[in-house]
Amino acid sequence: LGTVSAVALAFSASAALADDCDDGEMIIKFSHVVAATGHPKGDAATLLAERVNKEMNGKACMRVFPNSTLFDDDKVLEALLLGDVQLAAPSLSKFEAYTLKYRLFDLPFLFSSLKSVDNFITSDNGKALLTVMEDKGYTGLGYWSSGLKQFSANKPLLVPSDAKGLKFRIQTSDVAQAMIEAMGGSAQKLAFKEVYGALQTGVVDGQENTWSNIYTQKFFEVQDGITETNHQLLAYLLVTSTEWLDGLEPDFRDQFLKVVDDVTMEANAAVAATEAKNRQNIIDAGGTVRELTPEQRAQWVETMKPVWTKFEGDIGKDLIDAAVASNE
Ligand code: LMR
Repeated sequence: LGTVSAVALAFSASAALADDCDDGEMIIKFSHVVAATGHPKGDAATLLAERVNKEMNGKACMRVFPNSTLFDDDKVLEALLLGDVQLAAPSLSKFEAYTLKYRLFDLPFLFSSLKSVDNFITSDNGKALLTVMEDKGYTGLGYWSSGLKQFSANKPLLVPSDAKGLKFRIQTSDVAQAMIEAMGGSAQKLAFKEVYGALQTGVVDGQENTWSNIYTQKFFEVQDGITETNHQLLAYLLVTSTEWLDGLEPDFRDQFLKVVDDVTMEANAAVAATEAKNRQNIIDAGGTVRELTPEQRAQWVETMKPVWTKFEGDIGKDLIDAAVASNE
């Protein structure tokens, strides 16, 4: 072998080693749609893989596929049931076909802060919602919070009526649709990976997402500005197939679930800082961030209030009250 090909061989061997699983290890594939780093979900997935690969070495091997490289959110839920992946973390808005209870999390201005979100997801009511889809074959392993959402558009948005006549990309969520319609806009459900192109070409005028998604997907580059509305939660369900989970050997399952719980706590504790950093990253990169006066904010809250009534029957008033009570 010449030196060059020997080096090339050594390089490809080490790249393969870094990525490859050993014989006898259970392969756990985790597919998600966001950036691999600098994002609450990307970082949490990486941390989970690091911990599993270290602490369960010889037993388990986790591979993470970020950025919609393997599946987007509607396909990944089918892939879980087919055994093509073992873990996913779609946002709670993406489970409408399986449960209407998660509409709770989409109610506009429900949670006043990430601390309130934490209070609710760690409460008995929050934990009970992890298993509501077991009859459909899915078990939630935990909630990964991602931040509160902000609106952006191709024109300044200061009060809800500024959105009149504009078309917004939304996730597959009827609550989000009702919210946009309450503002006098129209909503289009699009997969996450299509949002940048849709904003750039004018297929839609605006969107709503967290600072981390707006920064890592560069949405701010193709929008007039972002309005700090904090109007809705973005959180994920770390989800697996109930059949896969039930089929694990008990010791393996206990160890795996312990790692999942640790990582979930650590990841949720880091969200606020990552979000603040990405808000600043947008400003540093030349993006415009608009803050609301208390009077302007009150208009957004007032405009969206009817959305709660519309979905109260699907969610249950008691559950809504419990979530409200988690605000401090
Ligand atoms: C979206 O579709 O906007 C988000 O759910 C993407 C994500 O996973 O953060």
